[in-house]
Amino acid sequence: MKKLDKLYIGTNTKMYKTIADTVSFLTELAELTADIDRKLLDLFVIPSFTTLERARASVPRESIKIGAQNLYWEDQGQFTGEVSPLMLKEIGIDIAEIGHSERRHVFGESDLAENKKVLASLKHGFTPLLCVGETLEQKQLGVSNEYLAIQLKVGLNGVTRQEAHNLWVAYEPVWAIGVNGIPATAEYADEKQGVIKSVLNELFGDAGAEIPVLYGGSVNPGNAEELIQKPNIDGLFIGRSAWDAKAFNQIIRKVHPLFMAKKNSDRR
Ligand code: PGA
Repeated sequence: MKKLDKLYIGTNTKMYKTIADTVSFLTELAELTADIDRKLLDLFVIPSFTTLERARASVPRESIKIGAQNLYWEDQGQFTGEVSPLMLKEIGIDIAEIGHSERRHVFGESDLAENKKVLASLKHGFTPLLCVGETLEQKQLGVSNEYLAIQLKVGLNGVTRQEAHNLWVAYEPVWAIGVNGIPATAEYADEKQGVIKSVLNELFGDAGAEIPVLYGGSVNPGNAEELIQKPNIDGLFIGRSAWDAKAFNQIIRKVHPLFMAKKNSDRR
């Protein structure tokens, strides 16, 4: 089975869920989705650092993968307030989310910093989920494609074709994210995801075509179905609309059959 024949879907719970909230969310989500064959679904949750140990212990990784929202690139040192890959490895996380728009635009992270985090994640065996996306200003100036290419080429500098097999990318236009976000139309998202895929192909050849590219930014029950049917959208990375396990399960139930139908028609 090809890597992109399964649906990638997950949520970053940002700075919202406590340990107790996270454990009950994960337990409920695992139960609600237990009947869906994990060969056809890659389900992941990325909660706050303080919750990770309990989160990991509360559900098997075969059911729900667990990710960290950030990490530092050094193994140890005088870096007060940072969390090292070794500490995350000790917990047994699967995914390291890197370069979320809030990390870039609220905390001022650069593409060079994201690159160090990507390389550290690969070195320690985590799947880096590199988030890229243009700002509203860049969109209005007509330079979105250039910015996406820079974020990818700098963020993935030094990643080998071999390592590219363990990489995920999320396209999250900054203007589409969060309470004030305006969701991208499915057409717009698909077009930009196509741009991302062509840069990944330029960087990694055939291995680039195997990298899942997820869409995120105000995904909700009203637009998820249209988005997932687009050819360049391999999965969804959801915020607010996924933070209730029942609501998230409903989105998964809606999009999973549509995704499978898309894959079947590709094979025909
Ligand atoms: P949102 O968040 O779905 O609430 O817009 C998306 C994200 O930040 O990844």
